[in-house]
Amino acid sequence: MELPFAESWKIKMVEPLRKSTREQREQWLKEAHYNVFQLKSEQVYIDLLTDSGTGAMSQEQWSAMMLGDESYAGATSFYKFENMVKKIFGLDYIIPTHQGRAAENVLFSYLVKEGNVIPGNAHFDTTKGHIESRKAKAIDVTTLDAKDTQKEVPFKGNVDLAKLEQVLTENKGNVPFMVLTVTNNTVGGQPVSMENIKATCALCHKYNVPVVMDSARFAENAYFIKTREKGYENKTIKEIVLEMYADADAATMSCKKDAIVNMGGFIATRKKEWFEGCKLFCIPFEGYITYGGLNGRDLNAIAQGLDENTEFDMLETRIKQVQYLAAKLDEYGIPYQRPAGGHAIFVDADKVLDQIPKEEFPGQTLTCELYLEAGVRACEIGYMVADRDPVTRENRFEGLDLLRLCIPRRVYTNNHMDVIAAALKNVYDRRNEIKRGVEIVWEAPLMRHFTVQLKRLG
Ligand code: F0G
Repeated sequence: MELPFAESWKIKMVEPLRKSTREQREQWLKEAHYNVFQLKSEQVYIDLLTDSGTGAMSQEQWSAMMLGDESYAGATSFYKFENMVKKIFGLDYIIPTHQGRAAENVLFSYLVKEGNVIPGNAHFDTTKGHIESRKAKAIDVTTLDAKDTQKEVPFKGNVDLAKLEQVLTENKGNVPFMVLTVTNNTVGGQPVSMENIKATCALCHKYNVPVVMDSARFAENAYFIKTREKGYENKTIKEIVLEMYADADAATMSCKKDAIVNMGGFIATRKKEWFEGCKLFCIPFEGYITYGGLNGRDLNAIAQGLDENTEFDMLETRIKQVQYLAAKLDEYGIPYQRPAGGHAIFVDADKVLDQIPKEEFPGQTLTCELYLEAGVRACEIGYMVADRDPVTRENRFEGLDLLRLCIPRRVYTNNHMDVIAAALKNVYDRRNEIKRGVEIVWEAPLMRHFTVQLKRLG
């Protein structure tokens, strides 16, 4: 008999989980203004809010932390970190930052001017926030395939090259860079093919526009290239990553994802002038350029995490768990962005709660229902996260409205996946009884989903 697939690690340390009753959850969610970001973690049974900073570090990472050098400048930890980033990405100049959005803040402070246009394959919300807060414009150039959740294509995160070229020709001289996000979180953790990465870089360079790779889940993207793209099946993940970055000008990274640490980020670039420019913003925002808001021990853990999470077995364990959950949802007939993404399943909330109008936020409503059902905290990546148009102040309803079941790395077992799937099935089975959604009572002008206060209708 062929042996079944199993995790490439075993568990050494555990943390208890807390269950609750539906009555307790009704009360807690009301107190949280129907915004799961406002819940306390102890009110949550299985936490799928994010895969960011929520992974379990390895014994090698924990032991590397003990060797952290906490010197203010020139710590050995910085050089370990710098060498590893250079080795993995093949980029020359490295600046640590305390997380991904801090890398965006430093780099964009240097590069983005009012009125600029910055195309990207579905900018992540903080990326979009950092662009729009500087009165520049983020234009989405993701392939149209991504909008059809039921269409099964291998690289749904790709850039639509014709759309990109149109933006580049219409805005000549006004595009400081393009953002290429791997994997494309906003449309479902969907990968970008090597072919598309190379074509995007070539097209941008034809117009003298540099490419910044938003790299939070770069290793998961490399896994998909290896398993889905012809010609890469025999390459190692590390070889694929080097090739992904061979034509890129810079990277911003949230180490909280594919470096499997609780906090950390960086900017990496081959442009010396960008490095010099960024230093000026790193020092006042993040701290001196050899620590960038991080402890020496954090830098050690990042170096180790980058090394081990660019190995095939680690990525296979992770992505197969996401696919296991997807197979359960298939069994129950629950629609999600197909195929399953690298870090999460994105349930098509608009299709599940199709009787709830967009104005009542189906994705946000489904998030509440799933929490009430079983204490599973997912999050909405949809009309709430999309924010209002900065000019018209209208809600932006043109994208997808998704419920993200985001799986932390090396944290939950497949038994937890079974619970999540069963909870969602229960909600799905009574979907026709959920007739009304939610209404905004208070919202922030930007990135409103973190703090928005809602009222339940009906
Ligand atoms: N870019 C992408 C593609 C991201 O997914 C994130 C964070 C960031 C940048 C910002 O990094 O959190 O370290 O400041 N995504 C998390 C998520 C928060 O839940 O998807 P950060």
